[in-house]
Order: sequence, then C-alpha cells, then structure tokens
Amino acid sequence: MIEIRSLRKRLAGKQVLDGVDLVVREGESVVVMGPSGTGKSVLLKHIVGLFDPDEGDVLVDGMSVSQADGRTIKQIRSCISYVFQNSALFDSLTVEGNILLGLPEDHCKRPGVDCRQLVREALEHVNLGPEVLGLLPAELSGGMQKRVALARAVVGRQRYILYDEPTTGLDPLNAANINELIARLKHEIGSTSVIVTHDVDSAFFLADRIAVLSDGIVQAIGTPEELRTSPDPRIQRFLDPTAAYAGAV
Ligand SMILES: Nc1ncnc2c1ncn2[C@@H]1O[C@H](COP(=O)(O)OP(=O)(O)O)[C@@H](O)[C@H]1O
Ligand SMILES: [Mg+2]
Repeated sequence: MIEIRSLRKRLAGKQVLDGVDLVVREGESVVVMGPSGTGKSVLLKHIVGLFDPDEGDVLVDGMSVSQADGRTIKQIRSCISYVFQNSALFDSLTVEGNILLGLPEDHCKRPGVDCRQLVREALEHVNLGPEVLGLLPAELSGGMQKRVALARAVVGRQRYILYDEPTTGLDPLNAANINELIARLKHEIGSTSVIVTHDVDSAFFLADRIAVLSDGIVQAIGTPEELRTSPDPRIQRFLDPTAAYAGAV
C-alpha cells in the first residue's frame, strides 16, 4: 500500500503540493489527473524519494520515504518501478541493455537467474520480439520506445509501477495500444499502479479510482463511475477533455 499523507512541497516560490492525501491500495490502479504544471510528476517523485517533502510524508508498505535511511530507501525503490514521462531510455544502450537496467543490482549474478530470458519475457509482455534486442532507441518508433520503457518497468516484477504520462506524444492508435498493455500487465503481473495522465479517455479506461489534483490538493477521488455521475459542476468541467487543458477545476 502507498499512503500519501498531508504532503506539502514548495518549489521555485510556488506552493506546488499543499496537503495531498491519497491512498493506493494493494492491486489497485489509481489514475492521477490534473492540468499541466499542477504537480503530478512532483507527486510521483515523492513516492520514490526523489523529492523530500516540506511537510507530510509518503509511506510505502508502512515505511516512511522521508525518514528512510540509505538501506530502507533502497528497499523501497526495489519494489517500485517508474516509467518516466519521456520513456527516458539510454540512447547509447541497446534495447536489451535498457531493459536490464530494470533489474535490481546484482540480480543477474544470482545462481539460477537467466537475465537474458527475463528480458525476452518482458519483451513478450509488451508484444515485441527478440529481433529488437540489439537495436538502439534511435532505431525505434516513439510507440516502440514506450513499449521498451514498459518492458523495463516489468522485467523486475516490482509490485508497484508508477507511470508518468505513458501515452503523451503518441498518436491515438499507439496510445490505445499502450493503454491496452498497461491494463493487461496489471492482470498478468498483479501490479499496483499510480498512473499520471491528463488524457480523460486513458484515465477512464485504466482507473479503478481517479484522483483529480488541482491547486495543490486532491479535489476529488472516486471510481470512474462516481466521477462521471458527480453532481459537482467543477468535476464535470474537468472531465470535459477540451476543458482539462485549461485548468478547469
Ligand atoms: N526540480 C524542480 N525545481 C523547481 N520547480 C519545479 C521542479 N520540478 C517541477 N517544478 C515545478 O513544479 C510545478 C509542477 O510541476 P510538475 O509536477 O512537473 O507538473 P505536472 O502536473 O505537469 O507533472 C511546476 O510549476 C514546475 O515548474
Ligand atoms: Mg508531468
């Protein structure tokens, strides 16, 4: 379970997070939506300790991220994988090299562990064949790069996966494919995920619950159905995809 408690963070003179509370239960997919620049990526980074909160905390399986010593933060990070906003593949490494980075340190040295096989299985999960193993990211389309980033996220079978805008920059067909993959991975691997997006369709497709982040707090949280039928006009405006970019909430 991931528990975000009264999280506050000020950056560059702006109160980005102003008391965020959010619980992500085991096996659940929570989508965080919100206008651009509202702190969605900053929120994800607090979960893995890339930012220190000014106030509040994040607990992963009951362990405080802000109070964690080096060993504990390593332990926390070892059960979380993170799909960064722009795929963030290393351009000098092959597909295989990039996916291997998703495995914990020293994993491949353990007796009986066949890392090349794990990489192939991860590729299979994202519908890519072994022929791409030796290619460099620059030789792949944007959609394939996202798939490789997803393969890297699942190769270590971490229990938690954080996705930051997994479909941004993709054409509608590739975006739909990536959403299908994320949904399938949840069922095949049983991962618990936090998915950041500003795409309303993706959110409704992927979410067990949707949290709407705006003005530094979670303005609303509920199942897609609960939000869809909410009488709150601000939520209805937010769910109008043309209004989402305008920061309607
Ligand atoms: N490392 C940083 N230093 C200073 N300000 C930052 C940093 N990262 C993000 N911010 C600011 O925090 C706010 C929220 O950013 P971000 O979380 O990236 O938004 P989004 O919701 O689009 O993901 C923005 O105003 C951004 O400029
Ligand atoms: Mg972002």
